[in-house]
Amino acid sequence: MRVWYASIQRGVEGDGQAKMLTRCLQSSFIGAIAVGDLVKSTLGPKGMDKILQSVSNQGVVVTNDGATILKSIALDNAAAKVLVSILLRLDCSKVQDDEVGDGTTSVCVLAAELLREAEQLVNQKVHPQVIIDGFRAASKAAHEALRKSAQDNSQDEERFREDLTNISRTTLSSKVLSQDKEYFSQLAVDAVLRLKGSTNLENIQIIKKTGGRLADSYLEEGFILDKRIGVNQPKRIENAKILIANTAMDTDKIKVFGARVRVDATGKLAELERAERNKMKEKVEKIKAHGINCFVNRQLIYNWPEQLFADAGITAIEHADFDGVERLSLVTGGEIASTFDHPELVKLGHCDLIEEIMIGEDKLVRFSGVAAGEACTIVLRGATNQLLDEAERSLHDALCVLSQTVKEPRTVLGGGCSEMLMAKAIDEMAASTPGKKALAIEAFARALRQLPTILADNAGYDSADLVTKLRAAHYDGKTTAGLDMYQGKVSDVRELGITESYKLKRQVLLSASEAAEMILRVDDIIRCAPRQRTA
Ligand SMILES: *[C@@H]1O[C@H](CO)[C@@H](O)[C@H](O)[C@H]1NC(C)=O
Repeated sequence: MRVWYASIQRGVEGDGQAKMLTRCLQSSFIGAIAVGDLVKSTLGPKGMDKILQSVSNQGVVVTNDGATILKSIALDNAAAKVLVSILLRLDCSKVQDDEVGDGTTSVCVLAAELLREAEQLVNQKVHPQVIIDGFRAASKAAHEALRKSAQDNSQDEERFREDLTNISRTTLSSKVLSQDKEYFSQLAVDAVLRLKGSTNLENIQIIKKTGGRLADSYLEEGFILDKRIGVNQPKRIENAKILIANTAMDTDKIKVFGARVRVDATGKLAELERAERNKMKEKVEKIKAHGINCFVNRQLIYNWPEQLFADAGITAIEHADFDGVERLSLVTGGEIASTFDHPELVKLGHCDLIEEIMIGEDKLVRFSGVAAGEACTIVLRGATNQLLDEAERSLHDALCVLSQTVKEPRTVLGGGCSEMLMAKAIDEMAASTPGKKALAIEAFARALRQLPTILADNAGYDSADLVTKLRAAHYDGKTTAGLDMYQGKVSDVRELGITESYKLKRQVLLSASEAAEMILRVDDIIRCAPRQRTA
């Protein structure tokens, strides 16, 4: 990160003579383009990974996920910061419903390419407003062309599933899962189709367990809690009635809040302890009164209550964490309780079967036949934690795109095909536009053509040769031509099944234009004084 950062500084200093407007823009261009250059090598099926090394601790992350990289870099350049903040808004992990994952890298690269073109135009004395005008017109034409090329197969269940599998495969082909992409694309499609149209990915739980190979990963129906069942308690429960709670179940320490206890004899201490134990017994009785056979607590359950539950034939699971109880509540339909005086008001969770299962060497608890029938768990296996983390990010991207595609089923073609299609439409418009605006419109088309160029470069092919061939193919009327990055040639990407979500492509186009425009509009960067402290 350091090296890259230094180059930004140098760029700004080198431009000492320029006027205020250009100077500020210059700095913006340099920052934004640097961000694009940083992530562009990760693009496409032959993209490379980055190692992110933390300055504060020794942790390292290996990733090619655009959002993860952008989140981690320390930025000083104001325009670069603006760009990154726009990009991260796109990231699916922010719960916003209409956002699509996976596009972050593409948006970043396209925005940077647009700004690279804009920089040339500014140097040729084209005013930023004229560039913005041209970019807007071009973006509209591109959008129109993209919309026209989109296909909708959602009427035909079989074909739509094929579409989803193909999108999933395209998304995963640039990730760690690319080795096993056939398997994982089916897995992701199965998981998303279970959701039956919902985009709530909370219902798909991902459990990571080191050991085994990535290909040993699998999909489980229901919910898996990575906890143990208490000693001497039933390990298998049918027709489970579950009380999910967040309450203190410890008696080992004497807890008298805010008070200090002084005792003069050990006998007194025993008495206090006995009182505590009785209180706990009462509490367990109250919990039992809910007519349950499973008790899941967010906090610890100490030996004494554990034993009481065992005596009553109730399975008790302790220390289920925030995430655990929240998900369990979601999938079993139970509410999280913290007081137990009114059993009739507490909504219990239900499932057909609770049992202990083994994953690798570990015992976990599986809840199957849960109330939320769409819930499922993907168990990821792999050699190291870093690999598993990256696999999870990849899978999450695929799940995001797929769940959005179920809602907006139109698809477009990948492999640079859509970009070429849009660039062609823009070129045609530029030809009939008079004045300097036409320069900006043409520049937009050039920026779009950079995407297939980068794909080819990343795969180590002669990009100039391939992309001009691709362009010729499109002018020849082959509207489904794109780059086959495994063979290194121009092919029909529809036949290859290199499909992407229309919504995602549109989002990439619009967000990149928006980001570029936002940076072009800036004529000054003002350093604000720190806010005055009011006495
Ligand atoms: C999906 O990809 C396969 C090739 O892997 C292709 O034959 C098929 O036509 C594609 N399906 C759709 C619906 O585009």
